[in-house]
Amino acid sequence: MLKGKKIVLGVCGGIAAYKSVELLRLYVKAGAEVFVVMTRSAMEFVAPLTFQTLSGSPVHTDLFNLYQEREIGHISLADRADLFVIAPATANVIGKTASGISDDLMTTTIMATRAPVLFVPSMNVNMWENPIYQRNETRLKESGYHFMEPDSGFLACGWEGKGKLPDPQRILEETRRLLSPQDLKGETVLVTAGPTREKIDPVRFLSNFSSGKMGYAVARAGRDRGARVILISGPTALEPPAGVEFIPVSSALEMRDKALEALQDATVIIKSAAVADYRPAETADRKIKKEKKGDLVLQLVRNPDILAEMGAVKGGRILVGFAAETGDLQSYAQSKLERKNLDLIVANDVTLEGAGFDVDTNIVHFLTPDGRVEDLPRMTKDEVAQRLLDKVLEIRRAGK
Ligand code: PMT
Repeated sequence: MLKGKKIVLGVCGGIAAYKSVELLRLYVKAGAEVFVVMTRSAMEFVAPLTFQTLSGSPVHTDLFNLYQEREIGHISLADRADLFVIAPATANVIGKTASGISDDLMTTTIMATRAPVLFVPSMNVNMWENPIYQRNETRLKESGYHFMEPDSGFLACGWEGKGKLPDPQRILEETRRLLSPQDLKGETVLVTAGPTREKIDPVRFLSNFSSGKMGYAVARAGRDRGARVILISGPTALEPPAGVEFIPVSSALEMRDKALEALQDATVIIKSAAVADYRPAETADRKIKKEKKGDLVLQLVRNPDILAEMGAVKGGRILVGFAAETGDLQSYAQSKLERKNLDLIVANDVTLEGAGFDVDTNIVHFLTPDGRVEDLPRMTKDEVAQRLLDKVLEIRRAGK
């Protein structure tokens, strides 16, 4: 999502300036081109060379610097931005912007840009609560500037309360949202993700290798593109994405109950979860003890097919399934598409390197009821998620 995007990162003078280094690293890793502007006081906290080395571009610090003015200049810096992120943003820079003061490179560039501007404030709790500061923030919000709320906790100044810079990962997520087209506004996207756990006894279960990465990527992409997202997830090690309605479940039966409930609100359903097809016929109340000799035979019963149940009642909703196969990919996926009454199936051969379970990339094929097959190359799960949502929009625009 950030590939090829130009972000101007403004760093103001606050102890949280060191966290901007991590933010810059995340932006660069996500493929963005980043230009850093620092205030004089920011340079008291972190040396410009750190940002210069990580961004691969000169750091801009002076309004009247002949070299920088010739090479880029504050106006061209403002013009080239797809997004201007000020993190940390101090009460001083926010106050100056709210009052129309532009007396240094930072405030001049903020005033001159037509790109969206995101302020990520970080300051002492009493400064943040000060009505003068709050008035400035409100004024800027009314003028279309974006703000993130500071986190609460122990502050470097010794006080406890609101004022901490949010985690750079969260700033990255907000950046992605602001840079995304809001083309899914009005849609409610229900995503299922992760594995299910089918309990054998209090200490054992049957499950699979799903990490949830694919489904969580879809949930984030849907949120970024303006949809209301409901994420029903089996147990994973992932953080639930901010801004998404998160429903944790464990077994297939639990996932079914929650999914059928959420179906009422959903306009798009994307079932990337790896649901166990079978569960133990009985769950022992106590730990099954090892017998002296012989094997243990577990009897399994079929779990309900949630996707097929949804297919039977989907109405005008767009229903997307996944197919995880280890051979005959296309024919198995085609049969699931028809049998489960889907609008789209995303087929992945989970035996391929860089595809399927517990990796950051996937290699998928889109199959639709009109018989078309679209083969996608290996790409990150975030990119697959974006392409999948493009496809959903295509189906919607074709009249579904
Ligand atoms: O989570 P990751 O580590 O990122 O891995 C991603 C993934 C491999 C899990 C994902 O890309 C994927 O393929 N998900 C579907 C896995 C799966 O269960 O496939 P299936 O072919 O068994 O099921 C077909 C479809 O029916 C799926 O949409 C599944 O959610 C659904 N299903 C299956 C069984 C069942 N009882 N109820 C269902 O709803």
